[in-house]
Amino acid sequence: MHSIYQYQEFISTYLEEQTIIKEPKNLYEPIDYILALGGKRIRPILTLMTAEIFGTDYKKALPAALAVEVFHNFSLVHDDIMDDAPLRRGKETVHEKWNLNTGILSGDAMLILAYQYFEKYEPKVFRDLAKLFSKTAIEVCEGQQWDVDFENREDVTIPEYLKMIQYKTAVLVAAAMKMGAIIAETSEENCNLIYDFGLNLGLAFQLQDDYLDAFGDPETFGKQVGGDIIENKKTYLYLKAQEFANADQAEELKHLFSIHPEDNTEKINSVKEIFNATGASEVTKQAIQEFTLKAFETLQKINIDNEKKDILKSFGENLMGRKV
Ligand code: IPE
Ligand code: IPE
Ligand code: MG
Ligand code: MG
Ligand code: MG
Repeated sequence: MHSIYQYQEFISTYLEEQTIIKEPKNLYEPIDYILALGGKRIRPILTLMTAEIFGTDYKKALPAALAVEVFHNFSLVHDDIMDDAPLRRGKETVHEKWNLNTGILSGDAMLILAYQYFEKYEPKVFRDLAKLFSKTAIEVCEGQQWDVDFENREDVTIPEYLKMIQYKTAVLVAAAMKMGAIIAETSEENCNLIYDFGLNLGLAFQLQDDYLDAFGDPETFGKQVGGDIIENKKTYLYLKAQEFANADQAEELKHLFSIHPEDNTEKINSVKEIFNATGASEVTKQAIQEFTLKAFETLQKINIDNEKKDILKSFGENLMGRKV
């Protein structure tokens, strides 16, 4: 096994070996730009780590790990268009730096490039990886559509929200891990259990993403703080605030989530105050912990050494402490 830092290095090195930029430059430069901005690379790290946990050299999992990361970056480029986001990883988003059409087409190309990495596997593994990938990718689209649909709805429920984040985010974390397990050719039971682990970890991850979107430090967060509030996103914070609010708070929140002011500073501050005053912030933090603990419960059922379970546990604990 290797350290998180080492896995990150393996991914960067493998990425650098790829020739991404060719003609036409306006298609490939944005792809290189977004991939080079890096990010945490948690999904490909999990692919490599899972392959090793189930007894295979991480090198065998590199193409799949990169496929997952390229797909993730594709989803970010399109997500930033959909969310009208100016900043990604502390830099301009692709559609801001270039333009909308470039963001759309470079994103499309990344989706195809991601698929091509699976061609490096022999037929049986290729089939299993491609099948899982297709299922996951369509689910991400479904989750993203719900996310956008919910912006204009006032009656979103917690189960609906959880399903939305399961699809837009958690399934990819889960699939990233299952791919490592598929490449290691471990038992179907192990593949399914590690998927389940990744799914709960992914739910905790998106809940925390929502939390940081409101309460992250603008200096280090790398994205526009308050972006979800500006876009009237129905996050866990919002839904819980709506549930716990007294009559005045409920009315104010409803009003704030119906307006699109020129300057959003006041809207963001007022909404954050309501998130705190209603206790929504606290229960969101608790939910992050609960889903992480649920992931750890699944871990107990997997047929691997305790030492390896501890590695996955500490990865989950570190994710909970993240600030970006
Ligand atoms: C952002 O993912 C999108 C979500 C699903 C929350 P990450 O937080 O993993 O973004 P990077 O890749 O580290 O920038
Ligand atoms: C992103 O959700 C999910 C996908 C990109 C599929 P968000 O919209 O919350 O992600 P960020 O906060 O922009 O990274
Ligand atoms: Mg977004
Ligand atoms: Mg989004
Ligand atoms: Mg977010």
